[in-house]
Amino acid sequence: MNDFENDLDASLLSDRVALVTMSPTIAISQLAASLKRTGQDILSLAIGEPDFDTPAPIIDAAQRAAEAGFTRYTAADGDIVIKSAVCRKYKYENGMEFTPDEVHVSGGCKQVISNAFAATLNPGDEVILLSPYWVSYLDVVEYLGGKAVIVPCEEAAGFLPNIDQLRNALGPKTKWVVVNSPNNPTGAVYPPEVLRQIGTLVAQESRSLILFDEIYEHLLFDDCVHVSLLAAAPELRCRTLTVNGVSKTFAMTGWRLGYGVGPAWLIEAMARVQSQLAGNCSSISQAAAAFALDHGQQLVAPWRAIMQERRDTLCDVLNRNGSLNCSRPGGAFYVFADVSRYFGTRSGDGDLVQSDRDMATYLLSKARVAVVPGSAFGCPTHIRLSFTVPTTSLKIGVTRICDALAQLVSASPSHQTADWQ
Ligand SMILES: Cc1ncc(COP(=O)(O)O)c(C=O)c1O
Repeated sequence: MNDFENDLDASLLSDRVALVTMSPTIAISQLAASLKRTGQDILSLAIGEPDFDTPAPIIDAAQRAAEAGFTRYTAADGDIVIKSAVCRKYKYENGMEFTPDEVHVSGGCKQVISNAFAATLNPGDEVILLSPYWVSYLDVVEYLGGKAVIVPCEEAAGFLPNIDQLRNALGPKTKWVVVNSPNNPTGAVYPPEVLRQIGTLVAQESRSLILFDEIYEHLLFDDCVHVSLLAAAPELRCRTLTVNGVSKTFAMTGWRLGYGVGPAWLIEAMARVQSQLAGNCSSISQAAAAFALDHGQQLVAPWRAIMQERRDTLCDVLNRNGSLNCSRPGGAFYVFADVSRYFGTRSGDGDLVQSDRDMATYLLSKARVAVVPGSAFGCPTHIRLSFTVPTTSLKIGVTRICDALAQLVSASPSHQTADWQ
């Protein structure tokens, strides 16, 4: 390609697309996969998807639907089959009644969220994100002309928001407050009293909508219980969009199906967006997801114990070794570990670690383990490790991480030995 063609390509891009970065979790997972393909022994703890296969009965349901001719366009925001299954799910699992005109179905929870923001954000509207936050909220908000307002949640407070800080962040331009529980990346599970406090604050002191992302609803450990925001704060029903999906619960990331329940006026606007930008999501996936919602829980019940064993393995080795001091997540499948004590160190080979990104690069090259830098989630002191690989691989990976960390010593000439060892 000549220079003219290069310039022309770049000049054709929109100003808006410059606001979007490649999702860091996807980018790192792809890098790990490409290194693996070159024969390198890389373990990826970067990916946000279960390593289980979609249960066979769900695949059978999809096949039956395809053979029965359920292969055409459906209503833009989902066929009545999936919408009804979503209503049943909320009734029997969460004790909340919704009607099909309060349900939106799209190509993944990510697209449900994008449709909601596209349907509501005007330039300069503010969206409050509780940091650490899931990677895509911020880019989608900015891409659509909104402004993200970040409220930090301290690790010492269990990564839960401080209500006074949230109050200070609320303003006349706040269009959404986004709450995610169980949380990616921290694994925090919001207790009902915290949800109630958030609900009371937003209901009494603002006109904002609330987006409650509960996609990790069923990935819980120990005696943690998930409570949906509307169960804790029913007064918010008229302005809450609760989003969820089958990706994580049923190991159906590739089927691309997510759903949301909210007020009919919002759902109708989101359907308009979807009808023009994407059309309906796959009819076959809708049939599979409807089956999963109605019959899937017993199929995936054993996964919880497996995930908990992995979580314990990862936390035990990291904490026992003294390499990192990480809290045990109550839900989702991530450990979010503070690595800032290593900033300002170097390895014997001269690798300098000054940031979370340096740490991720160092662990990839030295330990051959891919992790996600915390800055992707608005928290540059941490890294995220997914426990979505078998326990045996996890043990090997975490041992390699500890060995690599043990090689880091202070970069300042007067402190050649790390004082945490
Ligand atoms: C908090 C959170 N919300 C939404 C999603 C999107 O899920 P999907 O689009 O696969 O349904 C993810 C995926 O990683 C997530 O972690």
